[in-house]
Amino acid sequence: MADGLVLDFSGVTKRFGAVTAVAGVTARVEPGRVTGFLGPNGAGKTTTLRILLGLIGATSGSATIGGLRYAELSHPLQTVGAVLEASSFHPGRTAANHLRVYAQAAGIGIDRVDDVLGLVGLADAAGRKIGGFSLGMRQRLGLAYALLGDPGVLVLDEPANGLDPEGIRWLREFLRQLAQEGRTVLVSSHMLAEVQQTVDALVVLSRGHVVFQGELEDLVDPTEYATVVDAPDRGALADALSAADVPFEILRSGITVRGLDGTEVGRLAADAGIALSSLQRRGPALEEVFLELVNGQRVHASALVTDSGETR
Ligand SMILES: Nc1ncnc2c1ncn2[C@@H]1O[C@H](COP(=O)(O)OP(=O)(O)O)[C@@H](O)[C@H]1O
Ligand SMILES: [Mg+2]
Repeated sequence: MADGLVLDFSGVTKRFGAVTAVAGVTARVEPGRVTGFLGPNGAGKTTTLRILLGLIGATSGSATIGGLRYAELSHPLQTVGAVLEASSFHPGRTAANHLRVYAQAAGIGIDRVDDVLGLVGLADAAGRKIGGFSLGMRQRLGLAYALLGDPGVLVLDEPANGLDPEGIRWLREFLRQLAQEGRTVLVSSHMLAEVQQTVDALVVLSRGHVVFQGELEDLVDPTEYATVVDAPDRGALADALSAADVPFEILRSGITVRGLDGTEVGRLAADAGIALSSLQRRGPALEEVFLELVNGQRVHASALVTDSGETR
C-alpha cells in the first residue's frame, strides 16, 4: 500500500489585488479514494492547488499535506506528485530526457524513468521530442513526472483536458487504481460529467467558496429521487397504488412514484399480485445539480457550515 496522506485546507483565502480568487476554503481530502475538485472556470481551483503546492502564498489560512506545509516536506517529489495546468516542457527534449532531469535533481534512480513512461503508456514515445507531442501525450507526460517519486499523494489540475474519450477512460482506470493502492488522489475539473465516473468524493467550488463537500452520492438529496415502475397490466398497478393512497403520475415510460423507494413499490405490487416489467430509481442529472450549485440556485447542507463548525 502506498502512503496516502490527508490534505487539509483551513480557511484558505487568496486575494490578487481587488480580486478574491479563493475565499475561506476549508476542506479535507482523504487517502484511498479519488476526490474531485470541481468548479467552473475562474472558481479558484488552480489558485487553491498552487497554494497547496507552495507555488504561491495564501493571503490567510493554510493548506497542509499530512499535517505539513509543502515547504516543510523533506522529500517533496516522493510525497506529492502534481500536474498543474499549462505545464511547460522544453520542446527540444525527449520525454525520457525531460524526466531524467527531474529524477536526477530529486535523487530518484534513472530506472524509474522507464517505469513511469510505461505506466502512462508512453514507452514507445520515450525517445521522441516533446515538441511533437499532442496535448493528450503532454498530459500523460505530466502524469509520468508526477509519478516519478512514487508519491502517496497526487494532485492533478484538469488532467482530462485534451484527452480523447479513450484517454479519459484510461485516466479513469489509472486514477482509480492509484487510489485503491492507498494514495490520496485530488483531481480538478470544470465539468462534473468528465469525472463523475472517476471520483468517490467531491469538493465543489464556486466563486472561491466551497458550495458542496461530500460523497458523490450525497450530491442529490434522496427525496429528489423517484421510482419509475411499469407492469404489463399498467391499469392494475395504478389501481393498487391508488388503493394504497400512494401518489403517482402516469407517463409514457411508466408510472412515476414519489415518496416510496424501489423496495416499497416492489412490495406493494407483489402484495397486490402484480408482475412488474421494470422498476428504476431516477434522480435529476448530476450535471444539472452541479450547475445549480455553482450558479447559486441550489444550496447544499454540506456548505452551510462555517469555519468554526457552526451552521450559517
Ligand atoms: N496571478 C493572478 N493574478 C490575478 N488574478 C488571478 C491570478 N491567478 C488567478 N487569478 C484570478 O483568480 C480567479 C480564480 O482563478 P483560478 O484559480 O485560475 O480558477 P480555476 O482554476 O477554477 O479556473 C479568477 O478570477 C482569476 O482571474
Ligand atoms: Mg484552473
